[in-house]
Amino acid sequence: MTNNLFTHSIELIKANQTSEGAYLASPNFEQYRYCWFRDGAYIAYAMDLVGEHDSATRFYDWAVAMIASRASQVERAIAASAQGKTPAPEDVLHTRYSVDGQPAGNDWPNFQLDGFGTLLWGMSQHLAHTNRMPDAAPVAWREAIVLLVRYLDALWATPCYDCWEEFGDRVHTSTLAALYGGLQAAATMLTGEEGIAAWRTATLIKAFVLENGVRGGTLDKFVSNPAVDGSLLSAATPYGLFSLDSPLMRSTVERIEAELRRDGGGVHRYAEDSYYGGGEWVLLTAYLGWYYAEAGETDKAEALLERVAECANSEGELPEQVPQHLNYPSMLPVWEERWGKIATPLLWSHAAYLTLATHLNKR
Ligand code: BGC
Repeated sequence: MTNNLFTHSIELIKANQTSEGAYLASPNFEQYRYCWFRDGAYIAYAMDLVGEHDSATRFYDWAVAMIASRASQVERAIAASAQGKTPAPEDVLHTRYSVDGQPAGNDWPNFQLDGFGTLLWGMSQHLAHTNRMPDAAPVAWREAIVLLVRYLDALWATPCYDCWEEFGDRVHTSTLAALYGGLQAAATMLTGEEGIAAWRTATLIKAFVLENGVRGGTLDKFVSNPAVDGSLLSAATPYGLFSLDSPLMRSTVERIEAELRRDGGGVHRYAEDSYYGGGEWVLLTAYLGWYYAEAGETDKAEALLERVAECANSEGELPEQVPQHLNYPSMLPVWEERWGKIATPLLWSHAAYLTLATHLNKR
């Protein structure tokens, strides 16, 4: 299947993109039949890498339209924050929307900021991959970028749910990394004062992480929690909050290897994760490979690509996680009872595979 996994992944992603541009996170899993900004931007990035620019353009157009249609709520959230108040739940941008653009209800941890950083980063990557200058974004994009920069400037230090949609009362290091990467990208896409404002907020975020998100030479999962989390890889790849070879990133990756991989297996989210028992996350396994590929450690990256490919089922579909080396085996049946089998296929897993394969130049 490995040889076909590349083309099959592209086909699967295309088949689960609506005509408006939204990507379904996972078509067969009821809770994931929505489009997330986070998943979507990583998927669009992978589609750009494999030359499927039209698919990526349509996703970004969908995301821009979603943000534009909520501009007045966003303005209210910014105004509330300026008055020292927490924005009302109906005024924050949700992490996911139904593919036809409707909010998906209040029974979900809707307030998550990282996806908007990922989106800004992805937009700048799209401009580069389609041979445009960084400040050549279409007018509608530009308006959404300016609005997002103001929104993130107002809210970045406000506790919100993390990229795993948990711990909503915390300030998460990987969320801040995504916001840093997104704001740096926005600074290149904007000009004059608007660009400087994005860069200034990114600088504040980095200083905050150094002050509050580091302990014993490694990055913390969230402020006041010294656990390690697989999502911290993103602080280097792709968001560049810290360089690949910085001692801080090196030690953090060593901790991820020591605490979140067992017997050479894939990468867990964090040691206490009990969602579906807390197995190995396909996209994190691929993203550890991406880190190594960027760091020039090709052998390690290739082994991880193999590991990801082994996670595909007989239909060539990659799940969200594989139930191996479970943190809490007894929780697997509990979640299966609650929500059914592990989400398969997960488009983000396929995108992560494409990302690693492309960075390794392996089609
Ligand atoms: C994950 C998120 C993801 C969502 C949709 C959740 O379980 O924790 O990171 O965005 O699924 O794939």
